[in-house]
Amino acid sequence: MSTQPAYQRILLKLSGEALLGDQQFGISPEVTAFLAHEIKAVVDIGVQVALVVGGGNIYRGERLARAGMDRVTGDQMGMLATVINALALQDAIERVGGMQARVQSAIRINEVCEDFIRRKADRHLEKGRVVVFAAGTGNPFFTTDSAAALRAIEIEADLMLKATTVDGIYTADPKKDPEAKRYDELTYDEALHKRLGVMDQTAMVLCRDHGMKLRVYDMDRPGALLKIVTGDMTIGTRVNR
Ligand code: GTP
Repeated sequence: MSTQPAYQRILLKLSGEALLGDQQFGISPEVTAFLAHEIKAVVDIGVQVALVVGGGNIYRGERLARAGMDRVTGDQMGMLATVINALALQDAIERVGGMQARVQSAIRINEVCEDFIRRKADRHLEKGRVVVFAAGTGNPFFTTDSAAALRAIEIEADLMLKATTVDGIYTADPKKDPEAKRYDELTYDEALHKRLGVMDQTAMVLCRDHGMKLRVYDMDRPGALLKIVTGDMTIGTRVNR
């Protein structure tokens, strides 16, 4: 296998649920350690890595929203949940020898992490540090997928990756429909028109309009991230303009 990177800078989007492992709530130390090792493998070959993480393992807004909670308050709670996850990832990454990480938040929370400053993020990445972007876009009504798309575009990532628990995008939910087929490649317009639920529409339109390439892949598969960044085109589903 080639160890030459095919991409210089990537942005990896992790869902909050991905951090659950086999728990019902919170952060699995086994999962964060596994992710840190997967990330180290690509940092070691010189790839610059930025992360965006969701918050669904800590806070899910739907139930409280149904019970009448104000949407903006709920979204702010979700943003804070992503800060907790980002700190956990920073810690796990720095506990793997030879890596440094910096958390940058879209909402000001200086005592715990840096503010999001694009040029500073750029510098960290150039120095080989993993940058974890926290607190979404800093605004209610935007998902962490949209935040990931926005940050990927801002830092001029060569590839955005969406880590999920299935190995790509399917014609239907493969956990429910045995006939579901995996796409090797799709355009954003196809994904939008077929309502494939890859990401929310805001995120997909942002990626489409700015020509951001996306790969959806199974994060539980050890070595998959390294294979993708060294040019393996067979893993997951590629989404392009
Ligand atoms: P260089 O400028 O490349 O040396 O980067 P650096 O991040 O190592 O240096 P800096 O002096 O900016 O930061 C030193 C440490 O303080 C790092 O762990 C940063 O994450 C942290 N840090 C920087 N700014 C803030 C902030 O506003 N809030 C918090 N909580 N930590 C910060």
